[in-house]
Amino acid sequence: MHIHTYEKLWLGLSLLLITGFVATITYGALGAGVEMVDDSGETVDPGALGEHPDFADPGVERVGPNEYDVYVVAHRFYFEPGSSTQGFDPITVPANSTVNFYITSADVVHGFGVAGTNANTMVVPGEVSELTVEVGGPAEYGIVCNEYCGSGHHTMEGLMQVVPPGEYNGTDSQTARLGGDR
Ligand code: CUA
Repeated sequence: MHIHTYEKLWLGLSLLLITGFVATITYGALGAGVEMVDDSGETVDPGALGEHPDFADPGVERVGPNEYDVYVVAHRFYFEPGSSTQGFDPITVPANSTVNFYITSADVVHGFGVAGTNANTMVVPGEVSELTVEVGGPAEYGIVCNEYCGSGHHTMEGLMQVVPPGEYNGTDSQTARLGGDR
């Protein structure tokens, strides 16, 4: 059977395209480190965050020599802490540390994305989204909500500051208890 040269070419290109689709989908699902928020994490009562040991007064806690836990509550339409629009301080951590984020929502589904990085998660009421980030040198990062959450969605933003270790002055009880060898 004779197949026209152009027909062969187009057949080849279509096969290449299909292979490309399958490869990108496979990479996106398995290779890119993408995980879904699910029931395996801690669950919380979104209506009673005020009584939760960590989310009642969310913020940064030093948990090791170079490791910090950061508790964040997403609200319509701000991050606590992080959003200056509601008078909250930026999320501040020292450079070259490991930062574990624990994020939940007080109302609807939000997003928590550190702009310019691949740190990004959905924030679901009742669930705690966990995200570990190795931060490098001093920098400022915008934090954005990337799930549509209502009329103020586009205004929902926060700030994360990575400061030189000498300038970090965490004053939470955990820091005090560890003696603060900064
Ligand atoms: Cu919160 Cu969009």
